[in-house]
Amino acid sequence: MPLVPVDVLLEQADREGFGVGAFNANNMEIVQAILRAAELENSPVIMQASQGAINYAGLEFITGMVKTAAESSKIPVALHLDHGTDFVQVVKCIRSGFSSVMYDGSKLPLEENIAMTRKVLEMGTPIGVSVEAELGKIGGTEDNVSVSEKEARYTDPEEARYFVEQTGIKSLAIAIGTAHGQYQGEPKLDLKRLAQIKSLVKIPIVLHGSSGVPDAAVKEAIKLGICKVNIDTNIREAFVGGMRKVLDAKPDEIDPRKILGPAREAAIEIIREKMRVFGSSGKA
Ligand code: G3H
Ligand code: 13P
Ligand code: ZN
Repeated sequence: MPLVPVDVLLEQADREGFGVGAFNANNMEIVQAILRAAELENSPVIMQASQGAINYAGLEFITGMVKTAAESSKIPVALHLDHGTDFVQVVKCIRSGFSSVMYDGSKLPLEENIAMTRKVLEMGTPIGVSVEAELGKIGGTEDNVSVSEKEARYTDPEEARYFVEQTGIKSLAIAIGTAHGQYQGEPKLDLKRLAQIKSLVKIPIVLHGSSGVPDAAVKEAIKLGICKVNIDTNIREAFVGGMRKVLDAKPDEIDPRKILGPAREAAIEIIREKMRVFGSSGKA
C-alpha cells in the first residue's frame, strides 16, 4: 500500500495501548529487514531516516527504497524524517515523498522552537504529512553530564502543555532519561514525569534513545502514553554483529551478499523482538 502518515499509526497505538517501532533505515538491507520483520509480525511500522542517513544514502535512494518496500506490502509503512533540524531539509523530504517529518527544535529557545514547529506544521498538515516535535534535550550517551544537569534537560510537564497548546502538534518527543547510543549502565526512566506530561497533553508521546532500555521499562512507558518507540543502536549492533560473525569465520570472504545477507537476518530478529515488546505484533 502507499506510505501512510505516522499520525494514523500513532492514533491507533494510543487508542489500543501499544507502541509502534520507529526503526532507523540506513541502507537497503536494513530497509528490507524492517519490512520483513513487520510482515512476519503483522505489525505496522515506521521507517525513519536521519539527516546522516540521507547524506549517506541520498534522499532519492532512501525515499525510493522505502516507497518500494511499502508498495510491495500490505503492511502499513510510514517514512519519517528523524531529527530534522534544518528547515530546508524538512522541505526536501516532504517534496521527496516522506509521509512524516520530525522537526527537532529542542536546542532552540522555547518560543523559537514553537515558531519553527508551527511553520513545519503549516506546510505539512494541509498535504497530510505528519509532524513530530521535540521538547527537552534527549542528547547522547556520550554526553558527559552530571545527574542534576541531565535532569535539567528533562521535559517540563507544564512547558509541554504550553508547547502543545501553542503549536497544535500531534506527537511530541520528550526527554525523561533516555539517550541516543549505547548506555554505560542501565538507564533510569522518569516515568512519573511521563505520567504528568501525558495527563496534561492528550497526544501520542515519542520515546527516543530506546535501544538498551530494559523491556519492562519500555512496556511501562507504553502503558503511560508512549506510542512511538525509536530504535537505531540495537539494529546497528545486530547488523554489524552479523557481518563480524561471517568475517571472523571466513576472513577471506569477498562476496558482499554473503556478509550482508546474515547481517540482514540478524537485524530481522532484533526488530521482531522489539515489535513483540512494544505490543505491535498482530496490529497491522
Ligand atoms: O537519533 C539518532 C539516530 O540514532 C540517528 O543517528 O545521525 O548517526 O544517523 P545518525
Ligand atoms: P537509539 O540509537 O539509542 O536507539 O536511538 C534512536 C533514536 O532515538 C532515533 O531518533
Ligand atoms: Zn532520536
